[in-house]
Amino acid sequence: MRRIQSHSNPGRNPANKTTNGLARQMRRDYERCMDLSDFRKEYSSRGLHRQDLKADPVAQFAAWFAQATELQVPEPNAMMLATVDAGGMPYQRAVLLKYFDAAGFVFFTNFGSRKARQIAANPQVCALFPWITLERQVILQGRAESISTAESLRYFSSRPRESQLGAWVSNQSEIITSRKFLLQKIAEIREKFSHGEIPLPSFWGGYRIVIDAIEFWQGGPARLHDRFLYQRKPDGWSIARLSP
Ligand SMILES: Cc1cc2nc3c(=O)[nH]c(=O)nc-3n(C[C@H](O)[C@H](O)[C@H](O)COP(=O)(O)O)c2cc1C
Repeated sequence: MRRIQSHSNPGRNPANKTTNGLARQMRRDYERCMDLSDFRKEYSSRGLHRQDLKADPVAQFAAWFAQATELQVPEPNAMMLATVDAGGMPYQRAVLLKYFDAAGFVFFTNFGSRKARQIAANPQVCALFPWITLERQVILQGRAESISTAESLRYFSSRPRESQLGAWVSNQSEIITSRKFLLQKIAEIREKFSHGEIPLPSFWGGYRIVIDAIEFWQGGPARLHDRFLYQRKPDGWSIARLSP
């Protein structure tokens, strides 16, 4: 077993010379590894022009989403969802957008999870689609509203049986003792629902993000990126170009 040497007087012991050399090398590697200033990429720019934008941001999102799918962005429907706790501390995690339309953007989750508890206290959320390979990001801001049980059931019924069982098993965001605990639970649930349809758990369903603002960001050369912000107004949507 290798032991970490005490640093009390490292120069005295000849064996420490090697240790010190190794430590220096590790520090150099670490510093090299942590310095991201050379991670500079020149965005080739597809460009985003005001005249190309659709008046309706959901239609604009649909057009970009279709391109993200066509150009094989990995998991294009994964969005980073940010919520805040009662003290204003933000937290974010990936969730999958399952469908969207003029009414909003819908994802599914556990109603006992941390995100659900935070949404109950403060329904304002922000979600980001990081379509980095296209040099694009889309950022939504709005209010998360739980959808009706009937709507959740419609989606739940379309899921594969294994995913339906998974929704029953997870007390999402709770501390658990081991993976074994989960495996035992899934075995119990599988047994319980061995015949017939799996019912919708009362603690699982969807949220719709009703958007107030949405930004479309397109990388451009020399850091002159294109950014357009749509904001909801009483009579429709305003569109403003933001400085990069
Ligand atoms: C690509 C990806 C997609 C995910 N999709 C979902 C999802 O649709 N719903 C969900 O509840 N968790 C999803 N998760 C797990 C969440 O990121 C998160 O761990 C979980 O929802 C618990 O978050 P919370 O403790 O903040 O509530 C996904 C994770 C990844 C990496």
